[in-house]
Amino acid sequence: MPTFTFSTDRPTDLAVDVLVLPIFEGPEAGPGVKDVKGLDLLGVYAGAGLKGKRGETLLVPNTGTDGLAARAVLLLGVGGKSKADADACRRAAGRVAGQLAKRKTVATTLPQIVRGADAPAAVQATVEGLVLGSHRFERYKSKSDGRAPQLGRVTLVGAGKADAKAAKAAIARGQIIADAQAWARDLVNTPALDLPPAQLAREAQAMAKKVGLTCKVWGDAELKKGGFGGILGVGQGSTRPPRMIELKYSGGGKGAPIALTGKGIAFDSGGLSIKDAQGMEWMKSDMGGAASILATMRAIALLKPRVNVIAAIPTAENMPSGSAIRPGDVLHHRGGTTSEVLNTDAEGRLVLADALAFLTEQKPKVIIDTATLTGACMIALGTDLWGAMGNDRDLILDILAAGEAAGEPGWELPMYEPYRRLIDSDIADIKNIGKRYGGAITAAMFLREFVGDTPWVHLDIAGPSFADRAGDYWPKGATGTPVRALVGYVLSKA
Ligand code: BES
Ligand code: ZN
Ligand code: MN
Repeated sequence: MPTFTFSTDRPTDLAVDVLVLPIFEGPEAGPGVKDVKGLDLLGVYAGAGLKGKRGETLLVPNTGTDGLAARAVLLLGVGGKSKADADACRRAAGRVAGQLAKRKTVATTLPQIVRGADAPAAVQATVEGLVLGSHRFERYKSKSDGRAPQLGRVTLVGAGKADAKAAKAAIARGQIIADAQAWARDLVNTPALDLPPAQLAREAQAMAKKVGLTCKVWGDAELKKGGFGGILGVGQGSTRPPRMIELKYSGGGKGAPIALTGKGIAFDSGGLSIKDAQGMEWMKSDMGGAASILATMRAIALLKPRVNVIAAIPTAENMPSGSAIRPGDVLHHRGGTTSEVLNTDAEGRLVLADALAFLTEQKPKVIIDTATLTGACMIALGTDLWGAMGNDRDLILDILAAGEAAGEPGWELPMYEPYRRLIDSDIADIKNIGKRYGGAITAAMFLREFVGDTPWVHLDIAGPSFADRAGDYWPKGATGTPVRALVGYVLSKA
């Protein structure tokens, strides 16, 4: 486990393996660079042809510079000075995290590129970038020792003692949130073979026990008795039965809870409306929404905000078999709404419907769901943005702001009412597909049928939850999105 500490010592006095100092684009010296006397760090950096673009690094060994205690200085490009914000810290930190994990002790002035009210956010983001950027999924590497290099002791050097208290809280927040998000990545990266619904439920129970959440796992019999026909229907083609994971956090007395849910499809083969072989392996990540809600609950339990939060996570495996649901079948959801299944590959909305209906019964303040729901959302917004759709202006704006602040941005798609008729069914209340175009919107409209008047927002994370190549602070594979945004939202309501 890495440890993070905050210090207001002079950076040059810290006897660490590496002192990481930021360089703005230009190059221009960032905080701490000019404190190193007797060594023209900026000159060396510029002389190497580096401009200070994000991630452009240069390691300068300390060969006996007077007044410099560190064994080496790592000059780290952070990009333009005018764009120096928390996200720049997270990204720059993520870029060098792997390298720093090989050292025992590290110190950095990186968060000092942000001053004023946003300084704690920069500290938090730096911690997140370091933790997330050094995290690797190695469970299945037989030849490695199973352990990627781990960060050792990291000292974040602040400018003044005044903000030490806020900085320490920000460090704790960053570490808890990033650890939780890394866990979400592990769950998503785990092959479906090893993570059937029952196993995901066991992971949830183990987590809940550790952090002090209440956890109830709804099994087959309880789901039947409770009328969860969507979850049961989607799950009935698999030999590995579905579950619903209910988690509760109480920090807010008698107040109405924030309700969360996430799509937990262990594997989405498409069912009888089977997918192409091409890329089907990606569909082990179809429980990315569920994983991000589990991780959010874990972080909330550890951060202890003064709010109540309830989560109900539906999890099932979508497989084709003699027992699978067929196109044309009608499912009876929790609460009585019926849906005609015209494509068994539009399964996420079928399981979420039951969970949303259940959560609505709990009379929450708001409901937020997150789901790898539609390829259409990826077509609309690309791989980096989640789509936000809902029935409440304030809630949508709140969640978009939380995403922006956390460096996990989304974009709103319209609930254009004339499209509602596209999910009218001939024989049931609604059908589970619309037309080919506008698929993200009709999917959201399907979900909306189950929340009544409760303020609700749906985040379609099909794009950002799984990356086909590495980014600043994530390797290829699961990103754990949108854990930071969700935790940030909940904290902002405490
Ligand atoms: N899990 C998929 C959506 C998805 C696709 C997520 C690609 C991540 C990457 C979802 O269950 C699905 O299959 N959606 C269909 C809906 C269609 C049948 C109406 C889709 O988007 O094609
Ligand atoms: Zn799916
Ligand atoms: Mn599907």
